[in-house]
Amino acid sequence: MERILREVQDGVLLLRLNRPDKLNAIDEQMLRELCTALDEARVDDGVRVVVLTGNERAFSAGADIDGFAQVTVEELATSRSDFPLWDTIRRFPKPLIAAVSGYVFGGGLELTLACDLVVASQTARFAAPEIRIGLIPGAGGTQLLARRFGKYRAMELVLTGREFSAEEAERWGLVNVVTTPEEYLTRALELARQIAQHSPAAVRAAKAAIVQGLEMPLDPALRFERELFLRVFTTPEAQEAIRSFLERRRAKQQSG
Ligand code: COA
Repeated sequence: MERILREVQDGVLLLRLNRPDKLNAIDEQMLRELCTALDEARVDDGVRVVVLTGNERAFSAGADIDGFAQVTVEELATSRSDFPLWDTIRRFPKPLIAAVSGYVFGGGLELTLACDLVVASQTARFAAPEIRIGLIPGAGGTQLLARRFGKYRAMELVLTGREFSAEEAERWGLVNVVTTPEEYLTRALELARQIAQHSPAAVRAAKAAIVQGLEMPLDPALRFERELFLRVFTTPEAQEAIRSFLERRRAKQQSG
């Protein structure tokens, strides 16, 4: 892998977009490497949470515009479609935390929208700028912005392509925490380590309940939550935690 750097510590996998000379513009190779890393992380019990980051100047300036010149619309729709790759990211079952700084544009914004928690440096500048080059977001931008922020904010951002700040993003609910430029990655890793201490089965169930539940009407979503609750109820982690509470002792840590 050259476009994605990987590092694992304390159950947290750090994935760093690594194309700094092109502001981490997302080309086919980067997207494929990212999906390979996530596919491996999905089945690796040593990975409980993933943090996705770029560098101080850019999380990512979006889809690789150079690549657009080298592909036909037929290829984009078929053999070279990146749609399944974006699905892999959106369907990743463990918590995905974005730690962003600098440009978070286009596909970079869509990557952030595919994450479950977002920690941003004060320097982060977000935009869905595709309209400025005669395009629209094609990897979830219109749908996820509209579902997260409502129709009017999504219209404003997608139709004007205007930049918005980390503070605005936090106010609108796209960002969990805004930090100084020195702290954003440390804060994201702290958050990841905190989540990594909890039962992996419960963490996955919680993510599935929230992410998939949001796509359902309330009644089936409540039933889905209950089904997941019953499933985690029988896990050794939950049973041990309940017993330890009753016996007034600390729960034994379970592995895996
Ligand atoms: N695709 C391909 N290359 C990109 C890119 C993208 N989306 N964004 C930046 N780059 C490349 C530039 O071509 C330049 O490469 P070069 O040094 O070989 O010429 C390098 O990254 C640095 O970018 P540059 O434009 O010089 O930096 P800047 O600080 O002046 O401007 C941006 C930064 C993000 C405002 C500007 O690069 C930009 O508008 N990028 C496109 C953003 C976009 O439209 N994304 C959505 C695509 S659908």
